[in-house]
Amino acid sequence: MAFVAVEGIDGSGKSTVIGLLAEMLPRVYVTREPSGGPIGRLIREWALRGGSVDPHVDALLFAADRIEHYRREIEPKLRENFLVITERYIESSIAYQGAAGVPIDFILYINSLVPKPDLTVILDVDPQIAVERIARRGGVEKFEHATFLRRVREIYLRRAEEEGYPVVDASRPPDVVARDVIDIIRTRLGYGKSKR
Ligand SMILES: Nc1ncnc2c1ncn2[C@@H]1O[C@H](COP(=O)(O)OP(=O)(O)OP(=O)(O)O)[C@@H](O)[C@H]1O
Ligand SMILES: [Mg+2]
Repeated sequence: MAFVAVEGIDGSGKSTVIGLLAEMLPRVYVTREPSGGPIGRLIREWALRGGSVDPHVDALLFAADRIEHYRREIEPKLRENFLVITERYIESSIAYQGAAGVPIDFILYINSLVPKPDLTVILDVDPQIAVERIARRGGVEKFEHATFLRRVREIYLRRAEEEGYPVVDASRPPDVVARDVIDIIRTRLGYGKSKR
């Protein structure tokens, strides 16, 4: 089946929109990175909590987690004919570790062992709005500051232009954003009828 990555800065509404997609589309399997596997846990419990101070280490850990995540979880679900939607994938590494100073060629190289998604959608929102949403949600993490997120957003938007990824205005209400994403999935992948 098809493999979709939903990307965007922290607080752009990825989890919220993916939750709505899972309700509105048939046979969806939702997953996220960092993954639930051992390397994902190391990222969440150590790297993202200030343990890792070198962005190259972050890049390597995220790439390793991705390979493991793809083999263990994504590939089997695709074989079972699910529409697999992942919150974050290769473009997150390019945008975040790129913004932290890792050369993009290096990031692309260490991510070349996993397949690209059939579709990557970028949820785009002003970092100031995103940071306010995160503050309301509570528990601010390593990458969640407006100055840094501005650099991350720039890279996402530049990559979207270069690679032809659709960019969705995520400053609107969640159901409106989700409907746009579904239209994109339908148009670009010819997938699924709404349950509603
Ligand atoms: N379109 C929206 N309009 C207003 N608030 C929103 C919208 N989408 C999400 N939110 C709220 O903003 C906060 C962040 O949303 P969410 O957790 O979905 O973002 P995210 O992109 O998954 O963030 P992260 O990268 O940290 O996982 C949540 O409290 C959510 O309820
Ligand atoms: Mg999320």
